[in-house]
Amino acid sequence: MPNAGVSAADRAEAEGCLEVVSLIDEGQARAQLVREAVEGLLRAPLRELPAKLLYDERGSQLYERITELAEYYPARAEREVLERRAAEIVALADPAELVELGAGSAAKTRALLAAMNARGSLRRYVPLDVAIETLDRAGRALCAEFPGLRVHALAADWEQHLDALPDPFPGSPRLVAFLGGTIGNLKRAARIRLLAHLRETMRDCDRLLVGIDLVKDVSVIERAYNDAAGVTAEFNRNVLRHLNRLLDADFDPDAFAHRAFYDCEKQWVEMRLRALRPVQAKLGRADGRALHLDPGEEIRTETSAKFSEPQFAAELAAAGLVLEASWRDSAELFTVVLARPAGSTAASGRAARAARNKRGA
Ligand code: AVJ
Repeated sequence: MPNAGVSAADRAEAEGCLEVVSLIDEGQARAQLVREAVEGLLRAPLRELPAKLLYDERGSQLYERITELAEYYPARAEREVLERRAAEIVALADPAELVELGAGSAAKTRALLAAMNARGSLRRYVPLDVAIETLDRAGRALCAEFPGLRVHALAADWEQHLDALPDPFPGSPRLVAFLGGTIGNLKRAARIRLLAHLRETMRDCDRLLVGIDLVKDVSVIERAYNDAAGVTAEFNRNVLRHLNRLLDADFDPDAFAHRAFYDCEKQWVEMRLRALRPVQAKLGRADGRALHLDPGEEIRTETSAKFSEPQFAAELAAAGLVLEASWRDSAELFTVVLARPAGSTAASGRAARAARNKRGA
């Protein structure tokens, strides 16, 4: 057979590098999202929508554009940390395998995989994401880039499907990464629940890597969520287009203004949509119920928590984890935290023990 036209992607599949497994039941996931959205919309006085509504196809594209904005520092700061510190992170965690929640295009992860590859320890990458096409595309690219890598991609929801992770390699540490500061979109109780659930999947030798946005000058935070070009405003209003499809609703995005502000007490930045005039929206998939908003009434669309390292360490501790190390970007805006199970031996201890064993002590 002639080789012309056979892309690296085809070869990747032929060589069995990439496997994509879907755990998502589309109908059930949609029904769940409808329930959450309707319940949240009708919950006056504080109407609140799940943040995942921001990420339909257009929303994901808008978020990609946000990460390129001058004002939006978190993505850039985290990338700086990963690019500069990947070798150190990987030396401490010593993983053969990387599991990533909310992997997306795997752009952030490349530095970690490359560092594992350089150590000669890279065996498998397990990305979890709800978008199957994204997993497929990113998986193919990584297969071409890292010969010998196995990509076991899971189309899955990390709030539901952690139990479906493949078994780790016996005796080889796993690194579980949850990057981007996305954990900040959960409220405290839900964060601790997720961390505890992750802890349950970990053996003593496994490590957790979490990206978190740090508390800082309020004006820096508020600028990041109120960019001059209005991309974040469009990202926020796009929730209404998504709702129109999901709920067979008829929101006019132009009837709403974007609002984002930092709440010092809650220690989070939140996004809201504010009705600019009276809004009467039908919610076709809510048993004919309708939503009425007076001018000035608001719907919360996202909360994004900011942390100090000690505060996050306390949440880790509540989930049975110990902060082992952390790395900040040069402007100290964002931090990447490595955690190990409580009661496990710190990496330095492991190294010392291994050295003793080698000497036969
Ligand atoms: C992707 C969840 C980390 O909370 O900063 C960007 C999403 N919202 N601009 C964040 C977001 C508004 C972002 N995360």
